[in-house]
Amino acid sequence: MRTFLTAACAALLLGAAPAALAAAQPGAAPAVAPILTTPEARDVMTYARPEIARVTHVDLDLEVDFQEQILRGTATLSVLAQPGAKEIILDTDSLAVTRVTDDQGRALAWSLGAAEPEKGAPLTVQLNGAQRIVVHYAARPGASALQWLPPQMTAGKQKPFLFSQGQAILNRSWIPTQDSPGIRQTWTARLVVPEGLMAVMSADRLTPEGEPAGAGRRAFRFAMDKPVPPYLIALAVGDLAFRPLGPRTGVYAEPSMLDRAAYELADTEKMVDVAEALYGPYRWGRYDVLVLPPAFPYGGMENPTLTFLTPTFITGDRSNVNLVAHELAHSWSGNLVTNATWPDGWLNEGFTSYFENRIMEGMYGRARAVLEADLDWDILMREIELAGGMEAPTTRLRGDDGEESGQIDYIKGSLFLRTLETILGRERWDAYLTSYFNRHAFQPQTTAGFLADLRAHEIKGDKALEAKLQLDAWAYGTGLPDNAVRLRSEALAAVDAQTQTFIAGGKAAALKTADWSTQEWLRFIGNLPRQMAADRLADLDAAFNLSRSPNAYVRSAWLELAIANRWEPAVPALEDFLHSVGRTLFLRPLYRELVAQGDWGRAIAERAYRTARGTYHASTAAAIDALLNK
Ligand code: BES
Ligand code: ZN
Repeated sequence: MRTFLTAACAALLLGAAPAALAAAQPGAAPAVAPILTTPEARDVMTYARPEIARVTHVDLDLEVDFQEQILRGTATLSVLAQPGAKEIILDTDSLAVTRVTDDQGRALAWSLGAAEPEKGAPLTVQLNGAQRIVVHYAARPGASALQWLPPQMTAGKQKPFLFSQGQAILNRSWIPTQDSPGIRQTWTARLVVPEGLMAVMSADRLTPEGEPAGAGRRAFRFAMDKPVPPYLIALAVGDLAFRPLGPRTGVYAEPSMLDRAAYELADTEKMVDVAEALYGPYRWGRYDVLVLPPAFPYGGMENPTLTFLTPTFITGDRSNVNLVAHELAHSWSGNLVTNATWPDGWLNEGFTSYFENRIMEGMYGRARAVLEADLDWDILMREIELAGGMEAPTTRLRGDDGEESGQIDYIKGSLFLRTLETILGRERWDAYLTSYFNRHAFQPQTTAGFLADLRAHEIKGDKALEAKLQLDAWAYGTGLPDNAVRLRSEALAAVDAQTQTFIAGGKAAALKTADWSTQEWLRFIGNLPRQMAADRLADLDAAFNLSRSPNAYVRSAWLELAIANRWEPAVPALEDFLHSVGRTLFLRPLYRELVAQGDWGRAIAERAYRTARGTYHASTAAAIDALLNK
């Protein structure tokens, strides 16, 4: 006979009653978040079997050892198991596990299975009735989520730096837990770090100054009381300072970066207000931003309460704050409603890119939003071409296991939602999207689940509307459905006119570029012919110093063009760039173009990579390895 309690547990495990769980307050965080058990929600990248036994809370107690580049300590996991379940399976990758106990210190039997590439190895623990298990372990120096920076790779050049990057399945290299986006967990942590360094994490920061922890060390404590997918657990340790930006926003950066960072981020508080006015309350408490050293592999990462950002977004004119809008938008699409598995990643990135653009419109007006959408269209077309054209399978939104979809998730995904907005009307669409976030708050979602929700709440059997929307073609088909809404920017049309004058033989000095932002420069460089005479490249570089531009977006776009022309004068600046920036978005196109240029380019790529690879995050190195080994 099942007791009432186990019946309730079974309902939780099976995700049977999410609405009932959240009933107290619509969209409030449930203590234990439901999981999805439909076939399309199955995550092949985890060893976990959450329907049998799952982790509901992670408590980390870790010492950060910069000398050995090791995190060492314990992870105490709260377990919700089906009646009669004997074991729980966790994900690990290269962890050194020394023992596992229950919370009374009694040893539990455990075993590590065979490791698979990327997926790592299953850690199976015999529960023996335990509801909390303690894993004693260390994360090895090569842990794929972690990047340990020597002082010379920081702005201050005095102290080391450590950060983590969990998405997609890297956190199992430093946290032994069920590392699947559909298995939400609350968490707490204590980090012990050397005196003189600050530790921050993607949670409430309970001890901003830290506490003495003996022997020249300080301890920092953190708590996330809302269930999150484990890829959103993040840490950074370094010589950090904090400055408030508004009542609930602020910026962490190395002291020498703080002024420039705070200037660039001045609009952050207002962005949170604009986002809330669009799609409902910001549910995470504070929204702070951490500016990392240039080795950070992404533009940004939406770690809850603490967005991680590349310093390359700082160009002195605030022209790349769409990056902040993007990471902030993930506080709804991604962090609140989460792709159940990574092949459904467009539910995170496509929704977020759409929301990002709406925030930009709310902040800076329609023209700015249209300008960014217009540029995105170009990027999408290039991406579809690279994928092999409109029929290429990798142009589908709902992906296959293991494939990389890159910009398709972002731009095709946001075009899909813009098309829905246009057909349904903005007012109706916005009301729907707000209700969607409330209905699915703190839950995983699938492509099929989203379409079913939209049909149930908006389409309601209207055949004509269904035909107009082409939902299945968007979600499951290749290329672009013919109802895609393309926006065209007048400001970019003006740039295009100047580009044509230059291409027709005009002088670089005659171009009116004084008020060009990053976006206008990118449009200009992107529309120059891929083949240009050396004297034309030299004219541009002399006029605008593009090879050494302090704007990394402009510089990398220009260097890509220079490579395509095997233009030698840019090679030293290229080599410097490859050694100073770790952002994959910039590096991949450069290495790709070098490889496309045959022996000439490959020699440059391999020479630079030999010394630069060690300065890249494991995910960046993996992406470049794949390019160079083709
Ligand atoms: N979540 C992503 C970063 C990411 C993507 C990490 C894939 C791991 C795997 C983040 O929100 C993102 O999309 N960043 C973009 C921002 C841009 C689209 C404004 C980036 O890094 O460039
Ligand atoms: Zn994103």
